[in-house]
Amino acid sequence: MKYRVLIIGAGNIASGYDDVDSDMFLTHAHAFKCHDGFELLGFVDIDKKKANTAAKKWGTNAFFNLESAIQKFQYIDIFCIAVPDVFHFEILLKVAELKPKFVFAEKPLTQTLSESLIIKNVYSLNKIPLMVNFKRAFIPEFKFLEYEIKNNSFGKLRDFYGFYNRGLKHNASHLFDLFFRLTGEKDLILTQFIDQINDYSLSDLSYSFLAKSNSGVNFNLKSFNGNEYPIFELDFHFSAGRIRVTNAGEIIEKYKKQPSSFNGLSTIKLSESIVTSLNKSFIYSIQNIYNHLTSGEKVVSDIDDTILVMGVTEKIIKSIIK
Ligand SMILES: NC(=O)c1ccc[n+]([C@@H]2O[C@H](COP(=O)([O-])OP(=O)(O)OC[C@H]3O[C@@H](n4cnc5c(N)ncnc54)[C@H](O)[C@@H]3O)[C@@H](O)[C@H]2O)c1
Repeated sequence: MKYRVLIIGAGNIASGYDDVDSDMFLTHAHAFKCHDGFELLGFVDIDKKKANTAAKKWGTNAFFNLESAIQKFQYIDIFCIAVPDVFHFEILLKVAELKPKFVFAEKPLTQTLSESLIIKNVYSLNKIPLMVNFKRAFIPEFKFLEYEIKNNSFGKLRDFYGFYNRGLKHNASHLFDLFFRLTGEKDLILTQFIDQINDYSLSDLSYSFLAKSNSGVNFNLKSFNGNEYPIFELDFHFSAGRIRVTNAGEIIEKYKKQPSSFNGLSTIKLSESIVTSLNKSFIYSIQNIYNHLTSGEKVVSDIDDTILVMGVTEKIIKSIIK
């Protein structure tokens, strides 16, 4: 049996970023088309040209509203939500009424924490599993890094530095998710506001600030004008090593503390540099959906992970603008 999938939104992440024969898996469509466990029923897009172009590209159907897709197929197992951020909440509520077996939503799940809490309530009442596309969460190299950090391979985390742009909610949400996931930290308290840039939207500024985690880690986040170039980097300083994540997560560098050539002093040396499989993230995320549906595997990047990120983001913004 194949699970039948409908993708809502036929833009870049749904269909545009890659092609049927590319090595990378950068769209929902590419991953579902290549997995034997799924059948791609089509795309829904209010922009007819977008819907038709995507349907032609991936050999499937185009719909211009959700109702016409439902009319044709009666029951749909899985919905992917890949529309602009502002429409996530209303579409999440709409598809929940159809009681699908699974919903895979783009990040940020909703615009506000209170909306996400409503979604959590509706989805748990209806027992609909929900996954949010924080793509680094699915990558084996990051899962192993989490294992190493939590097993003390680098010692105690002292300081964290992050660089990002294009919106604290829109883009830094990826960075928060990775920080919390890798370290197990659960909160951040603002200690000092630095500055703000409008390089994405007036309703989602790129803030820079210092904060403290609940276990005393210094969390330093600096935005950089996204109109110059995109940046997404994380740098963890531990008591016995350092980890750098660069190129938006394509590279992980691990450094370990060692005796230096100067008697009695220590140094940190690069022990491993890894090219991650970030550009195949959709292969891993949809395999997790398949494993969840067929054998109950835990959903990676579920609604609670998103609620943690949104709660901290809103708290930091409130502390900055109060
Ligand atoms: N996880 C990631 O790394 C990642 C990367 C890129 C984008 N995203 C997210 O994916 C979402 C889509 O981004 P994109 O870059 O593909 O945008 P896009 O503008 O390229 O595509 C969005 C499409 O949705 C359509 N649309 C708008 N309202 C609709 C509605 N009510 N019903 C059906 N279709 C509708 C638009 O016509 C458009 O074709 C955003 O939420 C974005 O934040 C996530």
